[in-house]
Amino acid sequence: MCGIVGYVGRPGTTGAAGEDGAAVVLEGLRRLEYRGYDSAGIAVVTGAGVDVRKRAGKLANLVELLDADPLPAAATAIGHTRWATHGGPTDANAHPHVDGTGRVAVIHNGIVENFAVLRAELVEAGVEFTSETDTEVVAHLLGAEQERTGDLTEAMRAVCARLEGAFTLLAVHADTPGVIVGARRNSPLVVGLGEGANYLGSDVAAFIAHTREALELGQDQVVTITPERVDVVGFDGTPAQGRRFHVDWDASAAEKGGFPSFMAKEIHDQPQAIADTLLGRTDTTGRLQLDEMKISEAELRSVDKIVVVACGTAAYAGQVAKYAIEHWCRIPVEVELAHEFRYRDPVVSERTLVVAISQSGETMDTIMAVRHAREQGAKVLAICNTNGSTIPRESDAALYTHAGPEIAVASTKAFLAQITACYLLGLYLAQLRGNKFADEVAEVLEQLHEVPGQVRQVLDGLEQVREIARSMADTRSVLFLGRHVGYPVAMEGALKLKELAYIHAEGFAAGELKHGPIALVEPGQPVFVVVPSPRGRDSLHAKVVSNIQEVRARGARTLVIAEQGDTDVEPYADVVIRVPRTSTLLSPLLAVVPLQVFACELATAKGLDVDQPRNLAKSVTVE
Ligand code: G6P
Repeated sequence: MCGIVGYVGRPGTTGAAGEDGAAVVLEGLRRLEYRGYDSAGIAVVTGAGVDVRKRAGKLANLVELLDADPLPAAATAIGHTRWATHGGPTDANAHPHVDGTGRVAVIHNGIVENFAVLRAELVEAGVEFTSETDTEVVAHLLGAEQERTGDLTEAMRAVCARLEGAFTLLAVHADTPGVIVGARRNSPLVVGLGEGANYLGSDVAAFIAHTREALELGQDQVVTITPERVDVVGFDGTPAQGRRFHVDWDASAAEKGGFPSFMAKEIHDQPQAIADTLLGRTDTTGRLQLDEMKISEAELRSVDKIVVVACGTAAYAGQVAKYAIEHWCRIPVEVELAHEFRYRDPVVSERTLVVAISQSGETMDTIMAVRHAREQGAKVLAICNTNGSTIPRESDAALYTHAGPEIAVASTKAFLAQITACYLLGLYLAQLRGNKFADEVAEVLEQLHEVPGQVRQVLDGLEQVREIARSMADTRSVLFLGRHVGYPVAMEGALKLKELAYIHAEGFAAGELKHGPIALVEPGQPVFVVVPSPRGRDSLHAKVVSNIQEVRARGARTLVIAEQGDTDVEPYADVVIRVPRTSTLLSPLLAVVPLQVFACELATAKGLDVDQPRNLAKSVTVE
């Protein structure tokens, strides 16, 4: 997910609200770099036209370029820091993008889903493209509309009417120095209200060094800022008003988008991570298509076994995938820790599909497993959050999660995005191999599209979990139980607590309890239980309810995660944490959220650094 900054000050003056546009925007980009650092770029507008500087890699590369080749003094500037989606992290794909005349410059966060159709149309009309991005389409369309209407706001409205997907756009034009036009659909954009200057940003971090007064925009709105005015209209031209608010935290906290930690922010970002991962996966007939799927349909039809290889949290995403893919596709799925797979001489053939799951794409254990699988003739599909990283590059196909950059070492939003991608893969294979009818696939997809809203609901109702976490700062051991897809959720809940709070925690298959782990239960022992839907297989639900009784009878304190309306758990639960109703297979996306928040809050209460826990690293590049 990219970072976006815009600034308009007073021409002919210097200082905070003056012609120092490039510096103001650069400062904003520094605070937004957590959003992505594949490239950065700035465009300024002067009486002489639009000037652009952009560079692949971190912001430091752009700073170097600006030192060597400074931008002219300008009171209007836009800037972008990129997390690549369409097109690799190169100078050419860096934003801002301009049209053929170089008089309009555009920056963009999001995905224009119908860009291929629009691009084909423009190419047909003789337009030449200089990048692989979806964004460049917008620059060309906007240039033409500005020519036609002579009004950048009107031009932006006309272009937005043609775009599908999620996007935030900012544009400047040589004809209108002193004006920035922004647009927003399902992607963030806020206005900063200054004295003789106004700002735009992906979040308030972009302008927090200059003003703490801000304006929130609604969906499908176009905003036009000048040094003195902020005008908002709907995409349909209806005048609109933003909601004004005061930012009550300081510039240093803003690097985390206002959250106390990157982890808290990333937990909060999860609905968006799921929504973005689902974006653009169906064709016009509603059929699922995975465009990065470069393994032939014939090869996928002949697959007789899937092996998921991954480490840490990603391996638990793989465990969830096993239940879903086996159920939907009737293909046996093994899940193996990548470092174990590599050394046990696994049985794989050219009919085996190996699915490598990795947030970073750089985990050495997983890279080695991928290499080994390919040497044995297996096809490898990577599920990865990092464009251009080693694992997708060395695989036969890649399915990217769009969780945005994950900075906290312990994974949260990448986990939910990985599970979502696994569901997409399962449904795609089921569709391709004829295990499911189109309407059955569509029904699951529909449920999946409801999940982001349901995760938001879970997040909004977690004060109870936070309080419990704070009260348990001295706890030395916590157990987690689950069955079926609740089992990997239990293990992930335990892992989060180990990673963040350094508390001994174990996740067990609830049925295994009686075969040993129940000996650990003594009076007061906290036990989280992940309960499946009572609307699913009846026996599954009943068995987990029995497991709660078993530990309760031995004095455990039971903290039960159950679906709304499940009253069967109430007599045996010390605490019930409610999650919205969804199908059992999709339920991990909801059930894990309270466990993440629990671990994060408890670690915070212990005064620990939740973003960089001791002894860990985000990307483990040794075996
Ligand atoms: C490290 C991180 C974990 C992560 C694992 C796999 O151990 O601390 O949070 O789950 O690596 O990382 P990957 O980038 O391959 O998903």
